[in-house]
Amino acid sequence: MNIEETIFDTYQGHSIHKITLTNDNNVAISLLSLGATWHEFLVPIQDKQKNILLNFSTAHDYLSNPFYIGMAIGRTAGRIKNGTFPLNGQSVTVPTNEGQNTLHGGPSGFNTLIWDYNSCQSDEAVSITFSRSISHNEDGFPGDLAATVTYTLDNHNRVTLQFTGESNEDTLFNPTSHAYFNLSDSKTILGHQLMIASSEYLEMDSEKIPTGKLLPVKGTPFDFTTNQQLGDAIQALQGTTEKGFDDIYKITPNQQPIVKLSDPTSHRSLTISSSRNALVVFTSNSFTKNLAFNSGAGEPYMGIALESQTLPDTPNHPGFGDVVLPKNQKISQTITYQYMNK
Ligand code: GLA
Repeated sequence: MNIEETIFDTYQGHSIHKITLTNDNNVAISLLSLGATWHEFLVPIQDKQKNILLNFSTAHDYLSNPFYIGMAIGRTAGRIKNGTFPLNGQSVTVPTNEGQNTLHGGPSGFNTLIWDYNSCQSDEAVSITFSRSISHNEDGFPGDLAATVTYTLDNHNRVTLQFTGESNEDTLFNPTSHAYFNLSDSKTILGHQLMIASSEYLEMDSEKIPTGKLLPVKGTPFDFTTNQQLGDAIQALQGTTEKGFDDIYKITPNQQPIVKLSDPTSHRSLTISSSRNALVVFTSNSFTKNLAFNSGAGEPYMGIALESQTLPDTPNHPGFGDVVLPKNQKISQTITYQYMNK
């Protein structure tokens, strides 16, 4: 087990730190204090390491595109229609950042912040906890929020991501990670196979806001109840505007893991376990070549984001779940990713 800290970049006069956690199997993750970002997931190949996450080499690259690459997302993942929701019988309005809607916590979401951190190490695991106080005035959500984002790497090659929130007023808390995976040695994820424990996905309007209606996946390209090759599924969506997946699956958390992503060529695979009731699948359909990723210029289908969360626009849809963080209570949400090579 090892922890290493370096300076990644400077941004608006602040040093952005990169912290690398390595386990006894030579698997490592690195995190950035900007956006509590998951920057690298390094897995051993022969005597080297391979990164299976999309990433950038500067703070400016991370902040200057709309794709939230690797970043922590909060207070609320996904879109809130018109930036408005009911809370305690009142209509609350928060800042918008995508037309009239609020996406991924709005213009001052978790991803835009520089986080403090401390580390912790034992024989079995190594972890970093990012922490930040976010006042009501800073991001426009009700209540001053004390948030933490902890990344733990253990010797089973598991990465456990734990978010906690506590506020001095009732507020919303629906955090996630926007890591994009590419397990393969190819530039795209088209050769990957995907399995999702979900039989329904959400209908959305033209602004990608859920209508409230659930659609069955059976008999459609959205059916990942058994392993499906992403290239085939994406091919079947070429007639749509999106030309790929940017969809919200309803998850029944009694089946774990909720997702398995695998690359049959390299035999690398990743599972995700979580008790949340939704998974957003985004296959980077709209990536363009001006995105200067470390693995090369951006192109569609370079990576897949698998965002475990509560069904978005939650308070506006009865039955989507409860993302209210009650005043002076601490809530914790956990997502576990496990890497395997066999
Ligand atoms: C999520 C959304 C997408 C897109 C990405 C970030 O995956 O569903 O529509 O906004 O985040 O670019």
